[in-house]
Amino acid sequence: MQLDKKKILYDMAQNNPVVVTDQLESVLAASMVNFPDDKLFLVCDQNSDLFCLPLLCDTPGIEKFKKIVVPAGEEHKLLSSVEQIWLFLSRNGADRKSLVVNLGGGMVTDLGSFAASTFKRGVQFINIPTTLLAQVDASVGGKTGFNFNGLKNEIGVINQPLQVIIDTRFLKTLDHDNFISGYAEMIKHGLIHSQDHLAELRNFDLMHPDFIELRGMIARSVMIKTYFVEQDPHERNIRKALNFGHTVGHAFESLSLKQGKPLLHGHAVAFGMITELYLSKLSCGFADGILHNLTEWLLAIYGRYQVAEEDYESFYELMGHDKKNEGKRINFTLITSVGEVEINRNCSKKEIFEALDFFREVNNI
Ligand SMILES: NC(=O)c1ccc[n+]([C@@H]2O[C@H](COP(=O)([O-])OP(=O)(O)OC[C@H]3O[C@@H](n4cnc5c(N)ncnc54)[C@H](O)[C@@H]3O)[C@@H](O)[C@H]2O)c1
Ligand SMILES: [Zn+2]
Repeated sequence: MQLDKKKILYDMAQNNPVVVTDQLESVLAASMVNFPDDKLFLVCDQNSDLFCLPLLCDTPGIEKFKKIVVPAGEEHKLLSSVEQIWLFLSRNGADRKSLVVNLGGGMVTDLGSFAASTFKRGVQFINIPTTLLAQVDASVGGKTGFNFNGLKNEIGVINQPLQVIIDTRFLKTLDHDNFISGYAEMIKHGLIHSQDHLAELRNFDLMHPDFIELRGMIARSVMIKTYFVEQDPHERNIRKALNFGHTVGHAFESLSLKQGKPLLHGHAVAFGMITELYLSKLSCGFADGILHNLTEWLLAIYGRYQVAEEDYESFYELMGHDKKNEGKRINFTLITSVGEVEINRNCSKKEIFEALDFFREVNNI
């Protein structure tokens, strides 16, 4: 990692387009100069327009951008929103020489990146992620897309942005729940790859976040995701490490939605990680003392969550339907210790129910 104090604080270097900076305006201005003045387009949602765009107001030439504001929220990550962006680009004369800047959370960056990637067979785009989840997770890997036919990210393409510019000042207006939702992915990165990263995350004051300290932590988290994505862009083997907590987490997410009390993605992943840490103990010898210690810490951040025994079958079914499983086996990514990941571990129904028992017990204390 190269460090350039003037402009880019953390440059992931090589082919990685991600930069973490405290000089967002000058980084964006430097990238804009390569595009004609009348070919600059900005995609926001209602919240990023209100809370995040003002931080760009000192960017030289920002007034040249033509802006579209799409409705905020996952329920609008739809073809109709993509169509709005395509129409906006088309009516304003966008062409292959254009630049699209997506300013917002993962919903805006996924949607805007897809619209740009498909418009006239591909227009260059820059992502400026404004939620913690988008900064540490959606910023890496080039996945773009939208929800279709009731299925998440059903349509999409993989296409790399020209640049991803991360500035933690955006996070000051993010609510606590969305903040800790993104934090869960950082914790996952620590658990699968780095004791040091996990230690710094444990020491960080989540109630009074220091946004300057957070920059370095985000850079390290992004580098961990990059490490796995670069080795296996198509998720055939080691990239599956990033699924830790997600097999059970997706089941928590779906069930909570069905029950009308939806959990944010990161909260569901945190509960998934607790359950999968227990499976890691059962199947990979993960140390019992560390399991209890991590569980206590995660519950202190994400709160307690009640699971009913009569929901176990639904959980099991939802895990079996996880699109990352082949056939009927339930495939998990587990860890033998912090930083040591084991992919393709199959757990039995009995083990999964035992892990859910553990989750239920620790939440009832
Ligand atoms: N492409 C990938 O690899 C990848 C990875 C992870 C998640 N995702 C996608 O990301 C999406 C979730 O991302 P998200 O959690 O950022 O959701 P989001 O984009 O819906 O943002 C959450 C909420 O915060 C608001 N918001 C955004 N920035 C803000 C700010 N700075 N201050 C105040 N409010 C702000 C948004 O308007 C929204 O209401 C999902 O659609 C998911 O599929 C993609
Ligand atoms: Zn996730």
